[in-house]
Amino acid sequence: MNLHETMQQVKAIARDAGTLVMSYYNQPMKMGTKASARDIVTEADKAAEVLIVERLTALYPGHHIVGEEGGGQGAPMADADYYWYVDPIDGTTNFAGTIPYFSTSIALTDSDHNILLGVVYDPTRPEMFSAIRGSGAYLNDSPIHVSETSDMLNSLFASGFPANEDVQTNVMYWTNFLKEARGMRRLGSAALDLCYVGCGRLEGWWEGGINRWDVMAGILIVNEAGGTLSDFSGNSDPQKNNDGYYVASNTTLHPDMLRILQSDTE
Ligand code: IPD
Ligand code: CA
Repeated sequence: MNLHETMQQVKAIARDAGTLVMSYYNQPMKMGTKASARDIVTEADKAAEVLIVERLTALYPGHHIVGEEGGGQGAPMADADYYWYVDPIDGTTNFAGTIPYFSTSIALTDSDHNILLGVVYDPTRPEMFSAIRGSGAYLNDSPIHVSETSDMLNSLFASGFPANEDVQTNVMYWTNFLKEARGMRRLGSAALDLCYVGCGRLEGWWEGGINRWDVMAGILIVNEAGGTLSDFSGNSDPQKNNDGYYVASNTTLHPDMLRILQSDTE
């Protein structure tokens, strides 16, 4: 595969998905729930996933596709050398509430879940974040890099609270970060939060109990922007075992983030 050629295709798909999503924004639309009352899905999520999956399947019929709204599609996973992780709208709650912070996230991995390419597109600004393994990370056409901030007091952190998880432990982590950081944000799209770490708007982000399609593209963008991505124990490539625990930082502050995330929350 020529990943640079694939990147042009994926950016075009993300842009078209974003245009479709924005055609639903701030309009009356059908909405339903998934695993819980807080876990919502709109007709825009479903329509955008159909668009993305149709386009990827036409280009790469031998690849497997994991989509937030459609499960496994394309070639069976067992037969495929490459997997796509697709989140048509990451930040559906913001989208449905007309808060302009949501994104489309598309990532390509090999069958060992090494991430080869990632794109996160915010159609409201518009901002296209992208990375190819080994080739740096970009915002639109400009290279991005994590911040150089080295102390907690000058740092901004974000986290998220998955709809179907017990929030108590994360509230304790949040409180402990609040005591040390300049400020905390719950922005509402994990994919974009990771990109904001990549371009230095945030020093770090963490979340537990989150799905691969939310983070796969953003993980590569953080890593390629000079950041560090691990699980809460500090192990790299946590997307491989899919435990759902991720912490991203500007690298310098990674030990401080792990210290708080490993502290006793009882
Ligand atoms: C959600 C967002 C949110 C995170 C949740 C995710 P969705 O994705 O990424 O920031 O805190 O865990 O589920 O449901 O809007 O695609
Ligand atoms: Ca999502």
